Amino acid sequence: MHHPMASTLYTVDFVTCALFLLLTCTIIHVVVSFLARTRKPNLKLPPGPTRLPIIGNLLELGEKPHQSLAKLAKTHGPVMSLKLGQVTSVVISSAEMAKEVLQTHDNFLSNRPIPQSVSVLNHEHYSLAFIPVTPLWRDLRKICNTQLFSHKSLDSSQDIRREKVQQLLNDVKKSSQIGEAIDIGREAFKITINLLSNTIFSEDLVHSSGTAGEFKELITNITKLVGSPNIADFFPQLKIIDPQSVKRQQSKNVAKVLDIFDHLIRKRLKLRGCIGSDTYNDMLNALLNISKENEMMDKTMIEHLAHDLFVAGTDTTAATLEWALTELVLNPEIMLKVKKELEEIIGKAKPVEESDIAKLPYLQAIIKETFRLHPPVPLLLPRKAERDVEICGYTIPKDAQVMVNVWTIGRDPTLWDNPNLFSPERFIGSEIDIKGRHFELAPFGAGRRICPAMMLAIRMLLMMLGSLINSFDWKLEDGMKLEDVNMDEKFGITLQKAQPLRLVPVNIGN
Ligand code: HEM
Repeated sequence: MHHPMASTLYTVDFVTCALFLLLTCTIIHVVVSFLARTRKPNLKLPPGPTRLPIIGNLLELGEKPHQSLAKLAKTHGPVMSLKLGQVTSVVISSAEMAKEVLQTHDNFLSNRPIPQSVSVLNHEHYSLAFIPVTPLWRDLRKICNTQLFSHKSLDSSQDIRREKVQQLLNDVKKSSQIGEAIDIGREAFKITINLLSNTIFSEDLVHSSGTAGEFKELITNITKLVGSPNIADFFPQLKIIDPQSVKRQQSKNVAKVLDIFDHLIRKRLKLRGCIGSDTYNDMLNALLNISKENEMMDKTMIEHLAHDLFVAGTDTTAATLEWALTELVLNPEIMLKVKKELEEIIGKAKPVEESDIAKLPYLQAIIKETFRLHPPVPLLLPRKAERDVEICGYTIPKDAQVMVNVWTIGRDPTLWDNPNLFSPERFIGSEIDIKGRHFELAPFGAGRRICPAMMLAIRMLLMMLGSLINSFDWKLEDGMKLEDVNMDEKFGITLQKAQPLRLVPVNIGN
């Protein structure tokens, strides 16, 4: 029962806490700005909006920071500086300046600020996505490029992914038989986890019994906490207090995920003891083989690496699939055109294979166009300046965080005709790709920190999207009209649809 005294006590507690925080922040702010002024008198920071004392420009971020920052950049320019709490932040909003940061100066802009939600259970010392550029990071990236995500390894693991897509199509078929609507984002999330878990461990981690049943929720919760604003990241001195309990919650989530991986690895090690080391074509097999020669790759490292692959790979891929299908439903003529391509190249109602991708230029253009308008990581993963870096006559000061707003670059009217129009045709006959060479379209980032799993993400996306539209027609639920589809965005570590897309599949039949 809720005791009335309790609420008074909570209020007093809260007020004391708030006053304490305010006082701490004020003292810190005064000291820090004094030090900054004495340390670097000639620093020419990029222009930016006026800062409030203590909180700086924090309030200007709003609920959709990528959109608020895009608006601010219209006034202050493509290299803009803000103070987010105590963190000096530089926001890049043009393709030309993105090239400066991600390519020309990437030597000193390739480390990352580490959010509190990541520094749990030593994860910050193992995380491929967050450790600085060190020999360990280089070693991990090399393993990714040569063993985990190379064309050869992806080709050899494609059979297990094909089977998962077939299961997805069977599930959708069941819904189509009873005329049931599907929450596309949720379905995409589930299937992406299983595509990844089979690529990594040759196991389904969703829809199986036991502890594995909660895996999906754990990944959802971890991603949410990494993506939500945390006051301690803007006022690092508050990290000890952990005012939003981010660290406490995240530690629990990460501990459970690592424990699940620990079981999977032990099980495999036992199996390898009995039947030899090359029974599986998955990443775990490759990693355990590496561990025989490279002591860095021990069980702990494999667990933390797998953690990063799921957290970085699930939401991003699922959100892209949901946006792509939304755009296709809203643009029936584009849907017809891609269905025609699929029918001609693949054959009516057949699933798309990863090896078909190169033969489907229009489907590829649809994915590029989806990335342009709905980049799943709209500000990329922030970078951190290792030392003062000069760009375009301005200084990005040491330790500043640098964000590249690929969302606004994708809608820049100086780069794109009719920027708000969904038109895959713009990529037909165009050289622009998404591999980090063309800075007008960089949903996977660029330079040394570019997404290592880009090719796997593209294979999964094209195979899922192509198969879903080649096997089914899709209609809106319950007489909803196209005008009713809500295109609002929800900001987190990934940009998702605020309102889930619900569609009813209609089986095309063989
Ligand atoms: C549509 C899907 C995806 C998108 C849009 C995406 C986007 C990104 C972006 C923007 C970055 C930061 C790049 C930079 O700093 O320049 C990144 C990094 C990363 N991504 Fe992806 N990603 C996707 C799928 C995946 C998948 C499927 C995996 C794993 C299976 C993955 C694993 C990673 C990892 C480990 C990093 C950190 C790399 C590093 O810091 O060295 N991503 N991704």
